[in-house]
Amino acid sequence: MLWIKAFHIIFMVTWFAGLFYLPRLFVYHALAEDAAGRERFKVMERKLYYGIMTPGAVLTVVFGSWLWLGYGITGAWLHAKLVLVAVLVAYHFWCGKLLDDFKHDRNTKSHVWYRWFNEFPVVILFLVVILAVVKPF
Ligand code: HEM
Repeated sequence: MLWIKAFHIIFMVTWFAGLFYLPRLFVYHALAEDAAGRERFKVMERKLYYGIMTPGAVLTVVFGSWLWLGYGITGAWLHAKLVLVAVLVAYHFWCGKLLDDFKHDRNTKSHVWYRWFNEFPVVILFLVVILAVVKPF
C-alpha cells in the first residue's frame, strides 16, 4: 500500500508541476509579440500538456483509485477530496482548450487574466492535501 501511495504522490507532484507552469507559459505567450517567440511557446505548451501534465493526471487518478478501491480506504474527507479532484480535472481540460486557442492564434485573454487563472490550482492543492493528510472529517 505504501508503494502505491508513494507513486500516487509522485504523479500528483508531476501533475502539479504542469498545472503551475502551463498557465505561467500562457502569461508570457499572451505578451509575446514576435512570431518566432509565439511558435516556441506553442511547442513548450504542447509538450508540457501532453508529455507531462496529462500522464501525471491519469496516473494520479489511477494510483488514487487503487488506494481507494483496492485497499478500501474511505471517509467523508475522501468524498470531499473527490469533488475537488473533479474540479481540478475540469481545470485541466480548460487548460487544454486554452492551449488549443493559442495553437490557432485565437487567444483573446490578457496576461493579467492568466495570472489570476494561474492561482486557482494553488487553492485546490491546499484543500486537497489538508483533506488527505489531516482528514478533518
Ligand atoms: C481520483 C483521484 C484521487 C483519489 C481516488 C485519491 C485517493 C487517495 C487515497 C485513498 C489515499 C490514501 C489515504 C490514506 O492512506 O489514509 C490518498 C492519499 C493521498 N492523496 Fe490522493 N487521491 C486522488 C487524487 C489526489 C490529488 C489530486 C492529490 C493532490 C492534490 C492527492 C493527494 C494525496 C496525498 C498528499 C496523499 C497522502 C496522504 C497521507 O498518507 O497522509 N490525491 N489519496
